[in-house]
Amino acid sequence: MSTLGIVLVAAGRGERLGAGKPKAFVELQGSTLIEHCVSTITALPHGGHLVIVVPEALAAETLSLVSATVEPGSLWEISVTPGGRERHESVRFGIDALHDTANVVLVHDAARPLAPRTLFERVAAEVARTGDSVIPALPVADTLKRVGEGGIVHETVDRSPLVAVQTPQGFLREQLAAAHDRLGSAAPDSSENGPTDDAEVVQRAGGTVRVVAGDMLAHKLTVPGDLMLLEALLTTETG
Ligand code: CTP
Ligand code: MG
Repeated sequence: MSTLGIVLVAAGRGERLGAGKPKAFVELQGSTLIEHCVSTITALPHGGHLVIVVPEALAAETLSLVSATVEPGSLWEISVTPGGRERHESVRFGIDALHDTANVVLVHDAARPLAPRTLFERVAAEVARTGDSVIPALPVADTLKRVGEGGIVHETVDRSPLVAVQTPQGFLREQLAAAHDRLGSAAPDSSENGPTDDAEVVQRAGGTVRVVAGDMLAHKLTVPGDLMLLEALLTTETG
């Protein structure tokens, strides 16, 4: 039987947030970002296999944290596995740890703790419907400018074909695994040229990527100012 696989990447250092601990272990209204994600994911119908990728030293702590989060009788099996130096390495370790019964795989950043269940469902359904890779995206609202040396504006960029991309991103497992294997065996990239999301990894391997509507709730925690925004979104959501 084919099931849903989810890789939750939570092994980053959170340097831009500067909270003195890895970002995924920062709390938002009393629960870590990982716990917020796990409670959304384990409420998805049908169940599946969730692999949480964390810094090696925090693996045991993560297991006990999430065991307390999951409702008894949940159809989700949860594993914890250590991450790598770069995000794409962490994703690769997560894919390797997934059961091969998982046909469709979603990769999600723990740094997007409020991404709603409907977004996971929308992405997974579109992968199943099309067989393509699927990413949630929002239109860009701000005016965009290309800026050169000394802060001099060269031009305004046409924003109509541009979108801002979120996670969860969805893939056929075999396609995602093959694309990551190919990246892993290629010459190491300079840090500017490394892929910043999984859709890019699949596209470099020749795969087709399509968008579905994103969700403001999937806002990413990157810098301290994002904490205020996420707190406000969480308060609005939970009343
Ligand atoms: N991530 C990961 N392994 C890494 C790097 C990042 O699992 N080696 C995860 C992060 O935990 C996060 C997601 O990828 O959930 C997006 O990365 P980012 O927002 O850049 O998080 P950090 O790398 O933790 O933050 P920073 O870049 O500020 O250090
Ligand atoms: Mg990072």
